[in-house]
Amino acid sequence: MSAYPKIVVTPPGPKAMELVKKDESLISPSYVRFYPLVVESGKDCIVKDVDGNEYIDFNSGLVCLNVGHNHPKVISAIKSQCNRFLHYSNTDVYYNEVVNLAETLSEITPGSFDKKAYFGNSGTEAIEAAIKLAKWHTRKQLFIGFISGFHGRTVGALSFTASKPAQRRHFFPLMPGVTHVPYPYCYRCPFHQTYPDCHYWCIDFIDDFVFKKYVPPEDVAAILFEPIQGEGGYVVPPPEYFERLKKLADKHGILLVDDEVQAGMGRTGKWFAIENWNVEPDILCSAKALASGLPLGATIAKAKVMDWIGGSHASTFGGNPLSCVAASAVISVIKEERLLENATKQGTYILKRLESLKEKSEIIGDVRGKGLMIGMEIVENKENEKPAAKKASEIMTRSWKRGVAVITCGVSTVRIAPPLTITRELVDAALEIIEDVVKEVEKEE
Ligand SMILES: Cc1ncc(COP(=O)(O)O)c(C=O)c1O
Repeated sequence: MSAYPKIVVTPPGPKAMELVKKDESLISPSYVRFYPLVVESGKDCIVKDVDGNEYIDFNSGLVCLNVGHNHPKVISAIKSQCNRFLHYSNTDVYYNEVVNLAETLSEITPGSFDKKAYFGNSGTEAIEAAIKLAKWHTRKQLFIGFISGFHGRTVGALSFTASKPAQRRHFFPLMPGVTHVPYPYCYRCPFHQTYPDCHYWCIDFIDDFVFKKYVPPEDVAAILFEPIQGEGGYVVPPPEYFERLKKLADKHGILLVDDEVQAGMGRTGKWFAIENWNVEPDILCSAKALASGLPLGATIAKAKVMDWIGGSHASTFGGNPLSCVAASAVISVIKEERLLENATKQGTYILKRLESLKEKSEIIGDVRGKGLMIGMEIVENKENEKPAAKKASEIMTRSWKRGVAVITCGVSTVRIAPPLTITRELVDAALEIIEDVVKEVEKEE
């Protein structure tokens, strides 16, 4: 029996509600909170709230804590950097911490070619840098993005983000030149095809319709994609998808920009999710789990692509030394603790258990994922397969109240993304609660 979760007061407890009330009067209302979890502290896979409840963290602080909360090696690296220097803008001077990290990232990112790195402070900044770099290098202005993609909220990245209208409403005009095409979401194929009989029509569609009718391919700088859609619903493309996308890009001399902000840093059992498809992108963006919660975004490109000149792009805090040493520690921990292997091992086990739950359940339409990036799509029933957003939300909230912090994505998908340090014991404890809650919600139909 696992000692966790520990629920001592039905959440949200009184202290949590006090803070939530204050937050409402002081903090920007643009956030959408999943539930009133008020964090007091975290340790490895456990997050504690201000009322003393301890939850199994099945979303890793919005997929940022791949090595768990407060890993001692990450904390120690940050503390010793604090004693040396907190800041000196890398745009103006040099320091070891940023160069060391660039060297390690160059080793672990796909492709044995020479690479260069640009550092910003977030996922959206990593994407902005990639957009500007693609424009600079190619001198072209058009881009291809994907429906349901999420790449951030600054105006360039937002021009690609297409997962919910609320993210874009009242913010037009965005950056011109982005054409969105359907993502290979086989469970709900936008072309109503079935894999593999479709013969990857979603790729041919880009070539035969988009490029032949309205987007001149010779004017396209890059195709920006998530290797697994995150906010869009944990959608996993079929086996040859990216190989075919790369062929198409190569045919027209278009760059591939891989957004690994959510799927990278070991989450899928590989350093970067695109390795599951054996494709080497020209530009790769990382953030979130890169520095274990400290602000850091990295845009890593083929050295020959990152050919912009002094003054073309920079950021005062980008490559902050604290974030850089945290990121280097994260990479060491993933190697030393063999967390890629653990992600695959625990992920395979979770998928198997959820698959068998799906067999018995009327409201689980699809279970998919790689490593510890797993989605369970909730439907009204298996016949009509209609997305059941309210039920997914009920499963999320009730799981949280019973001690498992999971969140949703897409329209009705429960996302399972614990730290890569998760143990079988905690997985079992969390899955028992989730399975129970699914059965409960199903009965209430
Ligand atoms: C795939 C992907 N790209 C970009 C971003 C934006 O990252 P940030 O919120 O750090 O700007 C996110 C955030 O969820 C993401 O999931």
